[in-house]
Amino acid sequence: MKAVRVHQLGLDVPMHLDEVEDARPGPGELLVKLGAAGVNPSDVATRMGTHVHAGGGLPYIPGLEAAGEVVGLGEGVKEFRAGQRVFGRCAGGSYAELVRMDAGTAAVLPEPYSYREGAGITLPFRTAWNALFFKAHAGPGETVLVQGGAGGVGMAAIQLAKLTGCRVFATASSDEKAAFCRDMGADVVINYRTEDFAARCKELTGGRGVEVIVEVSGRENLGKDLDALCVNGRIVVMAAGRGEGAAALPVPALMTKDAQVFGITGVNLVPRMPEYVRRLVPLLRQNRLKIYVDRAFSFADAEAAHALARSGDFLGKIVLVPA
Ligand SMILES: NC(=O)c1ccc[n+]([C@@H]2O[C@H](COP(=O)([O-])OP(=O)(O)OC[C@H]3O[C@@H](n4cnc5c(N)ncnc54)[C@H](OP(=O)(O)O)[C@@H]3O)[C@@H](O)[C@H]2O)c1
Repeated sequence: MKAVRVHQLGLDVPMHLDEVEDARPGPGELLVKLGAAGVNPSDVATRMGTHVHAGGGLPYIPGLEAAGEVVGLGEGVKEFRAGQRVFGRCAGGSYAELVRMDAGTAAVLPEPYSYREGAGITLPFRTAWNALFFKAHAGPGETVLVQGGAGGVGMAAIQLAKLTGCRVFATASSDEKAAFCRDMGADVVINYRTEDFAARCKELTGGRGVEVIVEVSGRENLGKDLDALCVNGRIVVMAAGRGEGAAALPVPALMTKDAQVFGITGVNLVPRMPEYVRRLVPLLRQNRLKIYVDRAFSFADAEAAHALARSGDFLGKIVLVPA
């Protein structure tokens, strides 16, 4: 099969499109003929050796999520059959013509969604779900601030919070990204480059502050997040973001707000993935979630896909397709 592989860490050495041995499903896995693979910031960070879970061997096939057609079943898999369209989390990389998908986190892709859209569901929606519901327990009537609303996780978090009956504020760095956040359902979009997002959150909530913040850039924003938060508010940090070193956490504000600050990673979420999938799939079947794919790149252009992912100059998701 053809697969995109990383042969050396760092971004100076381009990824290769290689001919490799076909993937074979292990116990509890599906073998899936790739329709599309999601491209995520963690794919780039792992390649740079800066991701929290970096450290595997070389060469390796990048990519954590995919959608495609089931063509084989590993030992013990009973709930899927060949020919089904599925999406889910991949073991052993998703930038390949054949991928191994963890059956426990996979689901049948409902008909209205294409493989390209399916490839953008797993990471964004599971992360947003983890942040909003497993950690922050966001509920109807609460106000949620989604930082980075035009990215993959932001797109998912805005929609899930709206479907829950929350009031949703989102941050974005341009008018185009702001319009995208509004399309996803954000009630208010704040340009964090030109406005003080904490002051705006206070103003928009009559001085009270927001109940929940979904944070994509802990280093840059955590201090101000505490200003934007109401008493008993919850902040969920999913990424360190730009810059170096530790975030400054204003301890007095942490106390006066009775604030809760959570960290999350996808690895620790694995045991709760089946529960999340069970609750997410009905929303997909009812076609209530939008997965916006800004660009699809072919395997041969994987390097360009990573360059775009690093630039941040896109809306929603980037995916890779085999041809
Ligand atoms: N811990 C986990 O479980 C987990 C899971 C998935 C993803 N992540 C991480 O979470 C982050 C977001 O993932 P993603 O897939 O949504 O990435 P993405 O698609 O690249 O989107 C990130 C968004 O954040 C915005 N942003 C960057 N700096 C910001 C800041 N200081 N304040 C507000 N917005 C800012 C960017 O746009 P603008 O700056 O142009 O507005 C961009 O729209 C990534 O770092 C990713 O690695 C963590």
